[in-house]
Amino acid sequence: MAKKTVNTFQNLKDAGEKIAMLTAYDYSTAKALDEANIDGILVGDSLAMVALGYENTYNISIDEMLIFIKAVARGAKNSFIIGDMPYMSYNLSIAQGLENASKMIKAGANAVKLEGCNEHIINLTKRCVESGIPVLSHLGFTPQLMNTLGGHRIQGKTADKTEQILECAKRLEDAGAFGVVLELLPALSAEYITKHLNIPTIGIGAGVNCSGQIVVSDDILGKYTDFTPKFVKKYANLHDTVLLAVENYKKEVKSLSFPSEIESFELSSAEKEKLFIK
Ligand code: KIV
Repeated sequence: MAKKTVNTFQNLKDAGEKIAMLTAYDYSTAKALDEANIDGILVGDSLAMVALGYENTYNISIDEMLIFIKAVARGAKNSFIIGDMPYMSYNLSIAQGLENASKMIKAGANAVKLEGCNEHIINLTKRCVESGIPVLSHLGFTPQLMNTLGGHRIQGKTADKTEQILECAKRLEDAGAFGVVLELLPALSAEYITKHLNIPTIGIGAGVNCSGQIVVSDDILGKYTDFTPKFVKKYANLHDTVLLAVENYKKEVKSLSFPSEIESFELSSAEKEKLFIK
């Protein structure tokens, strides 16, 4: 299997084949996603909540993100890896954004994701792409702007708002973004935006007619149970599987049935005699 690139995303869109993406934060999950030949892996700043237990995504730094990107890059050899630029790691200046984006690439990401579309983000997108750093944009509900958006709210609920998001997406496309994540949008709004763009859209809570889909893998695997958004479908229930396994382990430890002889190492008869028959 060949390593996927930005071209894979465009080729899939052009061929009418959906792009399948998931998040991953650690080596073994990335390895499983890669074995499943998933198209793209996002090392999302959602890891602040899902892997580190924070209430939101504000408390993760670029240096912390790099640890997870390195782990994912060691596990995923073929999937295209996107590093999510955390809160305030790219908003202060172009120099700050470029420096932090380049750290992600050096850590093993193949691209970065930037939320929003103000002038600064559009310029930064352009400068990243000119510097060899592919950019995945993120519009609609953008978690880093949650406080200004007034919480987890569906975006693009009117024709006007949908046109505004499309306008943003077009500007980002012109700036060189290779794709746009559309989060929490009515399905028809996302379909309309997708139809009017050349680059692929990757939906999350944005209906079936985006060019592809992304979800948090811990959500669809039933591993993260604090909060499950309506748009998540559970493909496994790992929380319950882990719970049952741990309960069984505990029972066996307490009842001395673990470790058994199978999981233990033998001492030679000669050495045994020295210890026990004196
Ligand atoms: O941080 C994240 O995981 C994300 C998505 C799921 C799009 O931004």
